Amino acid sequence: MKHYTFGVDYYPEHWPRERWATDAKMMREMGIEVVRMGEFSWAMFEPSAGEFHFETLDEAIAILGREGIDVILGTPTAAPPAWIIEQNPEIQPTNWHGHQRFFGGRHHDCQSNPVYREHIRRYVTAFAAHYADNPHVMGWQVDNELGNSHGDLCYCPSCEKRFRRWLKEKYGTIEELNRAWGTAFWSQGYPDFEHIHAPKITAAWGQNPSQDLDWRRFTSDLVCEFHQFQADILRKAAPDKWITHNLMGFSSKPSYYKLGEQLDFASHDQYPGGHFHARHNEYRADWHAAELDFIRAVKQKSFWIMEQQSGITGWEILGRTPRPGQLGLWAMQCVAHGADTIVFFRWRSCAMGTEQYWHGLLPHNGVPGRYFREVAAFMKQYAPLLREISGAGPKAEVAILRSYEQEYAFQIQPHHPQHSYIQHLAAYYKALHRANVPVDFVGEHHDWADYKVLIAPLQFLMTPEMAEKLRAYVQRGGRLLLTWRSGVKDATNLCHTEGAVPCMVDDLCGLALAEYDCLRDAEGKVLWGAQEGEAYSSRHWCDIVETTTAETLATYGHDFYAGTPAVTRNAFGQGAAYYVGTTPGDELADRITAQLLADAHLSPLMETPHGVEAVRRVKDGRTYLFLLNHNDHPAHADLPAGFRTWDGAEWTGELTPMGVQVFVKEA
Ligand code: GLA
Ligand code: ZN
Repeated sequence: MKHYTFGVDYYPEHWPRERWATDAKMMREMGIEVVRMGEFSWAMFEPSAGEFHFETLDEAIAILGREGIDVILGTPTAAPPAWIIEQNPEIQPTNWHGHQRFFGGRHHDCQSNPVYREHIRRYVTAFAAHYADNPHVMGWQVDNELGNSHGDLCYCPSCEKRFRRWLKEKYGTIEELNRAWGTAFWSQGYPDFEHIHAPKITAAWGQNPSQDLDWRRFTSDLVCEFHQFQADILRKAAPDKWITHNLMGFSSKPSYYKLGEQLDFASHDQYPGGHFHARHNEYRADWHAAELDFIRAVKQKSFWIMEQQSGITGWEILGRTPRPGQLGLWAMQCVAHGADTIVFFRWRSCAMGTEQYWHGLLPHNGVPGRYFREVAAFMKQYAPLLREISGAGPKAEVAILRSYEQEYAFQIQPHHPQHSYIQHLAAYYKALHRANVPVDFVGEHHDWADYKVLIAPLQFLMTPEMAEKLRAYVQRGGRLLLTWRSGVKDATNLCHTEGAVPCMVDDLCGLALAEYDCLRDAEGKVLWGAQEGEAYSSRHWCDIVETTTAETLATYGHDFYAGTPAVTRNAFGQGAAYYVGTTPGDELADRITAQLLADAHLSPLMETPHGVEAVRRVKDGRTYLFLLNHNDHPAHADLPAGFRTWDGAEWTGELTPMGVQVFVKEA
């Protein structure tokens, strides 16, 4: 596959034709090698049923092609045109309240609707055929950010019908479904699959958690199948072209593991300074690093950024403007965590529509300003680096398990109002990030055997297969961390009723749950070891456990259960299983991860001041070390042993504010 360094998202249809050649020339001079286009322009390409007009797109592609720039085309199914909606208003989606949502934004479509599917089939077939042999079109993106803009959609009759079919395939008989959903409760028994509806708002608020879990699994599968429907058409017409998708980090609507199976490689949209962040001065480099590390897990290889922030962003409300150097820093953070190609969103700030203030590299008037100059200089400086490291690893020695299934179960029952599955994982990730310890994310289907440490919080739904996999991992020498609310439920979201919680792994953890306390607005206190004074704060929840074989590392320091175990370690086979009964505050997360690392004889990459990230990639025995200063002040870092600067410059020991430095070391 041909490698690209940098690209832009481009919407030539928003600008006069006379400008296109200027744009293409400026792009080439700047170092742009690839452009994504077309993902929202259905109305222009097919102004009425079956009447296709790809001439303008052909022309734009040809103009870019003359400058040596290749193209990725998006299928525009995130924005069906007004004439389709007029003709078939039923394809507009229905929300949780049973109300329809209407035309005028985007994603005003139901993904299961068979009439909409026919419109898609017609369009995508013609589109794919038209561009199958175009030498400048290298790959496709289906739709745009699948799972976004939809919120809780869609609960329409067509989706309900599909849901029933999905349930029939899963359960076979209605008796089996009634058992799995526990419908004896509140008279919910279904005499027939036909009586089942999408879980819309109820009179009593409370919903059946088993039904809700299946609904979330179903909508994930539906989104993946929606992608597959188009991907099949595209692959058949153009077997040589690749398919990727612009994923959104930790977004959970479709499982990216499943969607990823259809992709040649994963892409991600990165907006570190987006207007949607509530606190604009907050330090978030660790969160963005986590999202990037997660995207690397989707295909367990390097990836693309399909939309990289290129200026101030906002719709009706704006975020803060990127500080000098920050656009390059953000892009480099993506490269450091495994991006091979960075595509900036967008080329030029749009003069029309909702996204007028979602700024591009160029301002509205098209005359280069600070964003453009900074990014152009960054691209010139680092294009050779991107060529050199394309495809580089690394594989970390510590993994965090991210499960969509567990996440769905906690979305349904968070237990504590502030508890979020992903934020809980992030507490451990951030501790490792502060210590500059590389992390891979894994799914339950991945092979974890090689990781020295596996952090697998909140294994709420526990199946015999999962229990076996966890046990085998520890048996063979792994260090495993499990937490509160593990082994509580079965795969259908019913509570286990036999054995001690954490069910099926109680002997692995060497303890049994006696009771628990939801902390609500109280703060938890955890005392580490026998030493007085090593006190840490915790939140949300406390499991009150009795150990059988586990050793107690820390106890609670509050309430009637003071002195009972909060953090334990159980030697098992060649390894050890840790259990944490509460949600750790930052310092406790640091303490726990330090313990795990020491136990597994692992050490961090290096020490850095706060806000300076150290990340590495490895290729052909060469290690690339990235130092990223997320502070708006200079920071000092000592040149790590054996490394020299990648560009041969002398290392002063000082990183500029928002500055980056890359080092290399031969094996
Ligand atoms: C998303 C979308 C883009 C654009 C940007 C800015 O990432 O994929 O089409 O809407 O956000 O809002
Ligand atoms: Zn629907």
